[in-house]
This record gives sequence, C-alpha cells and structure tokens, in this order.
Amino acid sequence: MQEAAIPRGLEDVVVTSSSIAFIDGRQGRLIYRGYDIRDLARRSSFEETAYLLWYGRLPRPSELQELSRRLASLRTLPPQVLRVLESLSPGASPMEALRTGVSALSSFEPEELKQPRNTIGGALRLTAVLPTLITAYHRIRQGEPPVTPREDLNHASNLLYMLTGRLPPLTDAHVLDVALILHADHELNASTFAARVTASTLSDLYSAVTSAVGTLKGPLHGGANERVMDLLEEVGSPDRAESVVVGKLHRHEKIMGFGHRVYKVEDPRATILREYARALCKERGDLTPVEILGKVEEVVHREKGLYPNVDLYSGTCYRALGVPKDLFTPLFAASRVAGWTAHVLEEYSDNRLIRPTAKYTGPTDLTYLPPEER
Ligand code: ACO
Repeated sequence: MQEAAIPRGLEDVVVTSSSIAFIDGRQGRLIYRGYDIRDLARRSSFEETAYLLWYGRLPRPSELQELSRRLASLRTLPPQVLRVLESLSPGASPMEALRTGVSALSSFEPEELKQPRNTIGGALRLTAVLPTLITAYHRIRQGEPPVTPREDLNHASNLLYMLTGRLPPLTDAHVLDVALILHADHELNASTFAARVTASTLSDLYSAVTSAVGTLKGPLHGGANERVMDLLEEVGSPDRAESVVVGKLHRHEKIMGFGHRVYKVEDPRATILREYARALCKERGDLTPVEILGKVEEVVHREKGLYPNVDLYSGTCYRALGVPKDLFTPLFAASRVAGWTAHVLEEYSDNRLIRPTAKYTGPTDLTYLPPEER
C-alpha cells in the first residue's frame, strides 16, 4: 500500500479548533469572531478589535472605555528593560530588540501574569507595552531618549507619538489604527502557531510571545513588508516594473507581497490598504509608489497568476506615515500581539501538548566506531 504523502509545511492540515478567526481563502474574506474585517476596518478601533479577539464579543461602551483605560495605564517599561535595550549591539535589528525586550520584560513582571491561565492580564500588558518597546529601541539607536507614553492618547496615536515625539495628525493615527485592526489576527499563521506550540507546553505568555516575535521576523511571514520597499526602490519608476519583475521571476526569485498559503484570490487586507496607500500618496503629492505597485501587480498576475497579500501595501502606508522601513515588521507585531495572546488564552482553556511526529528517513543500525577508527 502506498504511504500518504506528507503535506509539506503542514498545508491544509487541521491541527486544532478555534473560534477566533476564519479565512475564506476562495472568497477572499477574513472574519474575526464572526465579524468581517472590512466592517471592522471601517467602523471599529484597535482597542475594540482587541477586546473582540480576547472576549469573543464586541464590548459595551463602558467595557471599551475600561479596556482602553487599562491598556493606556500599562504602557510603561521598567527602567531595567530600557537598559537592556541600550546594551544591545548598535546594529541589532528592531525585531531582535523586540524579541529580546519581551523576553527581558518577563523577568520584571508580577508572577501572576506569568501563570499559564486563561486570564487576560498578561494579554493586556503585552499589547500595551509592545509599542513602547519598539519605539524606545528606535529612539535609543538614534541616540535620542525614549518618549514617555501618554495615557490620554489612543493606542495608534500614542504609538506614533512615541516614535516621533510629536502628536500625529488625526488622519495618520486613523490609518495606523486601521492597519493595526487588519493585522490583529490571521488564524493559524506561522507566528500564532509558534505561540500556541509554546503555550501548549504550559509555558508562560511571555515565552509564547517571544516565540511568536522570532517567527514573525522571517521574510516569508512578517518580514515581507520591508522587502516590498526594497522592491519599490529597485524598480524606481512604473516603466521599469515589467523588466525588473520578469527578470526576478526568470531567476526564480519570489516577489514579496504576493502569494498566500490560504488566499486563492486577493487578500482583503491588501484591498483596504491599497486604498489607504493611494490616499496617503495622493495627499503627499507623489503617487509613484502606488503606480509602481500597480504595474508590479499586473506583471505578477499575468506571469504567475498570484494576487497581493497584506504586505504589498502596508509598507507604503507606513512609509507615508514616516515609519522607518525596519520598523514595519515590529508594527505588525504590535498589532498581532492581540491575536497571539487571544490564541494562547484559547490554548490554555483546553490544552493538550502539541507534539506532532516526523517520518524518520535516516539509518537505524549503524555501529559506533571510536574516533580513531572513523
Ligand atoms: N513570487 C513568485 N512566485 C511565488 C510567490 C511569489 N511571491 N509566491 C508563491 N510563488 C510560487 C512559488 O514559487 C511556487 O511555484 P512553483 O510551484 O512553480 O515552485 C508556487 O507559487 C507555490 O508557492 P509556495 O512558496 O510553495 O507557497 P506557500 O504556500 O508555501 O507560500 C508564501 C506562501 C510563503 C506566502 C509565498 O507565497 C511567498 O513566499 N510569498 C512571498 C513572501 C510574502 O509576501 N510573505 C507574506 C505572506 S502574508 C504574511 O505572512 C503576513
């Protein structure tokens, strides 16, 4: 009897059940707890979306107010963690700093936040503090003091404020808020799976989020948005898109920001971010980036039949907001932490150790030889 093929990369393998997010890859729909991402992007806020992911329902006004207040009150980093960030190699990437920062923070946190229990405290704390870690490291590496978080600003405004030291225009804060909503969860993507695997050993939430940050860092996952900017720079003008993209495809290089394991049509997050990227570029008086990406889309679709994913336009939005390229993936983490923590809490609520198996393909009967006889 022929053995069943092993699905590489666990493609289409169902490994758990979850009520947090659903991707309809054929219809191009993304659902958080029953709500279409397009509705949430239009009408919700990051804080409200985080509440939805954690509690499974939309908050009443007083509940949202309380959650926002609690998040705002948890933004401060212990000074020891700032010193850890200061001590990193000057060339450390912001994702390395974030991974180290989350791990270091854990040792200064109250024990109750580190117990593997289905309680929301650690989720709130990590979601509140990630923007502080990201922006503090960015300021430190530029030789500037970190900006103290402000409790009177919402999550997105405070993040931009800590990055630049200036209050952001409302429109900029709104675009970031939408981007944070769109990135907050995505079913069992690689980093969320990594978080759940860590949690399934009954390790703590901080360890799970450290695993997730390390996983998001890779260019096939969260790191793709930075590489889209490299592509934009390499192409330079819309008329060069054809030759650059065709050249890359002939060399069997992947075009970042295209393709997806689950979506077989356009990623709905890309559809929304394309509109915001266009509006921001128009407002700034330079439509070149969206024109280049439009051409790149045409060529990639014609040559490979691939559609854009979320990463194609997120970077263009972030760049228009003045965010440096190597902070794009950390911003992704600042949003996805809401989903990671929701999944970890779900894992704790009905846990069984995640421990798959491998088909062994090596030898079994070798005879050990002492070093001098090899
Ligand atoms: N550019 C060119 N070819 C591609 C691309 C791409 N972006 N994506 C897939 N393909 C091709 C592959 O070369 C392969 O072709 P082949 O069968 O001729 O060898 C085929 O499409 C299937 O691709 P896989 O890489 O096997 O598909 P998989 O489901 O494993 O990968 C992934 C999905 C990693 C997202 C892939 O499409 C990719 O590498 N995209 C570029 C990176 C990217 O944008 N990542 C962000 C994803 S969204 C997120 O994580 C937030």
